[in-house]
Amino acid sequence: MGIAMLNHEMALVVKELLKRRNVDLSGCCHDFLQRQINGRLKQIRTDYKIGTEHQIYTEHQIHTEHQIDSGQKNNPKHPIQTVTEYYEYLQSHPEELEHLIDSLIIQVSSFFRDPLVFNYLFCKVLPEIIASKSASGEPSIRIWSAGCATGEEAYSIAMQMGELLEKSRTGSGIGIETSLTGSGTAIEKSLKGSGTAIEKRLAGNGSSMGFTVFATDINEKTLDNARKAVYAPEHLENMPFKYIRHFNRIGNGYSPKNYIKQPVTFSRYDLLDKKSYCPPESVFGGFDLVLCRNLLIYYNTRYQNIIFTKLHRSLNDNGYLVLGETEMPTGQFQDSFTRISDCCQIFKKINI
Ligand SMILES: C[S@@+](CC[C@H](N)C(=O)[O-])C[C@H]1O[C@@H](n2cnc3c(N)ncnc32)[C@H](O)[C@@H]1O
Repeated sequence: MGIAMLNHEMALVVKELLKRRNVDLSGCCHDFLQRQINGRLKQIRTDYKIGTEHQIYTEHQIHTEHQIDSGQKNNPKHPIQTVTEYYEYLQSHPEELEHLIDSLIIQVSSFFRDPLVFNYLFCKVLPEIIASKSASGEPSIRIWSAGCATGEEAYSIAMQMGELLEKSRTGSGIGIETSLTGSGTAIEKSLKGSGTAIEKRLAGNGSSMGFTVFATDINEKTLDNARKAVYAPEHLENMPFKYIRHFNRIGNGYSPKNYIKQPVTFSRYDLLDKKSYCPPESVFGGFDLVLCRNLLIYYNTRYQNIIFTKLHRSLNDNGYLVLGETEMPTGQFQDSFTRISDCCQIFKKINI
């Protein structure tokens, strides 16, 4: 679905986002766009009403509607109703573009979002990385969560790394074994089979290994929440129970313990930024694993190619890339990555 599938008014709004913020939502489905714009219209009408009442309250001596209207610097003269009026409103209210982007580029995330992917990472990808780093005598593993939203993905991978390194150091496998001795769901059973393989691969590896997770997003507000790191219980719904030991209870929420937060660094980074190919905080990229999930869907192929160039360059040889469920390498990048799993969007960089 492209911009041709949107009606004229909606296409104008989408072009405005592209022109002024380089955000291309022409691939968004029509109903989703309509719903989100309706939400903004409703919000603007509410703000207008509050603004009007505030005006009436503070200027109660002034009675005529004209006088009230002329005192409204930031609100439209009458509440806007249609997408055409909304498009005009966007021209005169640049801040509204940010609100629209916030409502369209959804910052939703959760711990262990897509459990199959995280199982695959835990059983195959992370042990491979630990083993190969250990064999080459490198002391640290570098991971990038690109488009991290409120941080759940970055903390999830930090918990997995923590458990695997703990296992390789102590041989006790507290984390792994807790999940393996559970009452036996399908996933637990399938992990049970591979548990010994993980343990063998990890034995003696990583005894002094460390790791860093660089977590970046374009949106400062979500990064603030990621740093605060207090999550409502529903954000933990996909999480295997064994990981609960890595959280503190804070009021009605949960917060990862300090040793989980400590290896994770958050910073603002726009994946379309032309000046650098990786987050400046990471200095040189050199990542063993990059997660860039549920972000590419917002951009057309041209922008996706810009992003893939960065992801590819920032990965070490044989590094791994994880995409969202419906995302695939585009164009030339189809030959730059090999998909390593039938069930998940996990790829290995092809060395050129
Ligand atoms: C739906 S969230 C995905 C969060 C997480 N990766 C996951 O799958 O649970 C998409 C995130 O991508 C971020 N994003 C969108 N465009 C971006 C860009 N150009 N550069 C960096 N982050 C971007 C958004 O701010 C949002 O937080």
